[in-house]
Amino acid sequence: MSLQIKHLLGLEGVSNSDIQNILDTAITFKNVLNRPIKKVPTLQGKTVVNLFYENSTRTRISFELAEKRLSADSVNFSVSGSAVSKGETFKDTVKNIEAMKVDMIVVRHASAGVPYFLTQITDSIVINAGDGIHEHPTQALLDMYSIREKLGRLEGLKVCIVGDIAHSRVALSNIYGLITMGAKVSVCGPATMIPAKIKDLGVDVIYNIDEAIQENDVLNVLRIQLERKARSYFPSIREYNKFYGITEERLEKNGKDVLILHPGPINRGVEISSAVADGKHQIILEQVTNGVAVRMSLLYLLGTRTEA
Ligand code: CP
Repeated sequence: MSLQIKHLLGLEGVSNSDIQNILDTAITFKNVLNRPIKKVPTLQGKTVVNLFYENSTRTRISFELAEKRLSADSVNFSVSGSAVSKGETFKDTVKNIEAMKVDMIVVRHASAGVPYFLTQITDSIVINAGDGIHEHPTQALLDMYSIREKLGRLEGLKVCIVGDIAHSRVALSNIYGLITMGAKVSVCGPATMIPAKIKDLGVDVIYNIDEAIQENDVLNVLRIQLERKARSYFPSIREYNKFYGITEERLEKNGKDVLILHPGPINRGVEISSAVADGKHQIILEQVTNGVAVRMSLLYLLGTRTEA
């Protein structure tokens, strides 16, 4: 079945059936990744450019591996070493890359809305790999895949997103996706990090982390973005850790077998203790593994899509 969406700019407005289709197709690709030869000819002849204007480890490598395992020609662009340092504009850079006949662009950029802008200036299929504090849809898709794989469903599950909700593209994409898939979503964090109108999106707000642990099946623990001035939203890192850090003591005290996700990179000892980050509740590296399968699924479905 073809996707209704032509690009993936975010999960806002993406239908339940499209998300279901991407997650179901990812199961097939996860099986491919578990074979000795982890490659299929599905996107042979297609060219994908990974246009990264912001740093990344997981997303960039995951997309590149997904493209290679689908037999697409994969090209990586990063700002360092490019003609951006000579003053070339974003639009000129993209137009020049597209002139080399590319089919798909995977883009990460510090400015919200850049993936949408790309759809206005190119004919390529565009996938958002994280735009500013707007959305990070493939992270949310792999989070949902991982939850569903572990707990068997999304519908009716209680999922709490913990941390800096106001400045997190992971949070927003998870909220849109999980609500569409029938999960009950809440957010937890200091009041300074919870947007005033967040309830309008259909989520509950919890300010007490122990309550969040007791009431939920899943905690998606966000990274405190120290490079984005997150420190100014709470008095000290030690205080954030004391009130919102996920520790073994806290999980044991609440006696709850909660599933812990984290999108990475982890700040050990800040939002999550090392014991929890490496412990029995978490599936952090499984998320990373699943990310390749989910991105293969998305690239395949968008790259072979036919107009209805
Ligand atoms: N989760 C995530 O987006 O990590 P990277 O910044 O390493 O891609």
